[in-house]
Amino acid sequence: MTTTRSSQSHHSQPLPIILVLLAAAASTRLILQAAATAEQDEKQPITLPGCPDRCGDTLIPFPFGTKPGCFREGFQVTCNDSFTPHRAFLAYAGVNQHIAEIYYKVGWHHPVWRTDHGNTALELIDISVADGEARAYGLVSSLCNAANLSGDYVAKCQNLALGERGPFLLSVTRNLLVGVGWRVEPKIMSYLWSAYRNSTYEFSLACLSDLMGMPKLLQLATNGSCSSRGCCQAALPEAAPLTDFGTWFSIEDNPMWQTNPCTYAMVVESDWYRFSTPDLYGVEVLPRRYPRGIPFVLDFSIRNGACPGKGQKPPPDYACVSGNSYCANATGGAAHGYVCRHRRVQAPKTES
Ligand SMILES: *[C@@H]1O[C@H](CO)[C@@H](O)[C@H](O)[C@H]1NC(C)=O
Ligand SMILES: *[C@@H]1O[C@H](CO)[C@@H](O)[C@H](O)[C@H]1NC(C)=O
Ligand SMILES: *[C@@H]1O[C@H](CO)[C@@H](O)[C@H](O)[C@H]1NC(C)=O
Ligand SMILES: *[C@@H]1O[C@H](CO)[C@@H](O)[C@H](O)[C@H]1NC(C)=O
Ligand SMILES: *[C@@H]1O[C@H](CO)[C@@H](O)[C@H](O)[C@H]1NC(C)=O
Repeated sequence: MTTTRSSQSHHSQPLPIILVLLAAAASTRLILQAAATAEQDEKQPITLPGCPDRCGDTLIPFPFGTKPGCFREGFQVTCNDSFTPHRAFLAYAGVNQHIAEIYYKVGWHHPVWRTDHGNTALELIDISVADGEARAYGLVSSLCNAANLSGDYVAKCQNLALGERGPFLLSVTRNLLVGVGWRVEPKIMSYLWSAYRNSTYEFSLACLSDLMGMPKLLQLATNGSCSSRGCCQAALPEAAPLTDFGTWFSIEDNPMWQTNPCTYAMVVESDWYRFSTPDLYGVEVLPRRYPRGIPFVLDFSIRNGACPGKGQKPPPDYACVSGNSYCANATGGAAHGYVCRHRRVQAPKTES
């Protein structure tokens, strides 16, 4: 789960090169040369000099870093050594998530009560500087019948904050909003869409799973199919600045509360979740299965800046300083500033 793309590509090169050279009965000197090149590739620094390059199983390439002087502003990572292996968390002040626990009754205009649990830092899974992406664990939201009543619910809703001025945005191309349940219309809610930013606006993303509360219709749910019977998914809006939002539910009476009391919503890496019909039964099934969270993808960029033009001197806080990265002005949904992309290392030629 925590392997990284860069370490995989580094390890794939050396063996075939050495085998081809052996088959050609080349001199020992040539073989040593090839081995040395491979070793150099593996040692391409991904950090500033003297900085740790990993936390537990997670590689930490610049602009990320764990020690003072090792990261660019906004990209600090806390390496928590109370876990084995150690775990990496984003330390930028505006980045966190929490669960809002809310008691609803069908037909009431206001929640019966609401408790906001404390903010927690986002745990990193892996970072790809080449793609300007990091994966982190997000929490699953749930809505479950309460007090043995078909119209009473406790919702536990994920609220995610990435900070409006920070380097992170939710990737709109690599994540989906997924809903699971007998009837679920998950929503995304954000104050970013309200004119004065003092109230939340909900944003329906056209994802509806509906089995109409009829046990017979549960048979329509099919393993692996997330197309509106037991499971639904929706793409995220391209142009929206998704930095602060919550996942939310609409509610109605649940005649199947005894067997199917819960529905779920999650913003999750596309193609990661595979719907399975047993997920429709029982209490808090998905949050219990994924207590650490489910993977989702963040885009990162340096917000205030652009790549230096031809002949221009890079600014003093220029981010693409690692030996094998180059600068690309950000484009598309996350069009702020610039990103550092990884230069592809040319594999040495084996035939000539
Ligand atoms: C590390 O994780 C533990 C357990 O969650 C927590 O109590 C502690 O505060 C964390 N330490 C740091 C430095 O964040
Ligand atoms: C719900 O019903 C079960 C068994 O019918 C009972 O044990 C439980 O206490 C009830 N829960 C509430 C909150 O009323
Ligand atoms: C938000 O602010 C505007 C302008 O100050 C005001 O008219 C409106 O009533 C406010 N809304 C809420 C929900 O506080
Ligand atoms: C879906 O797969 C699970 C096992 O992963 C199985 O228990 C269940 O019966 C399957 N559902 C259907 C409708 O075949
Ligand atoms: C990036 O944008 C800046 C400012 O708009 C421009 O000067 C520079 O040439 C661009 N660089 C690239 C690589 O597109």
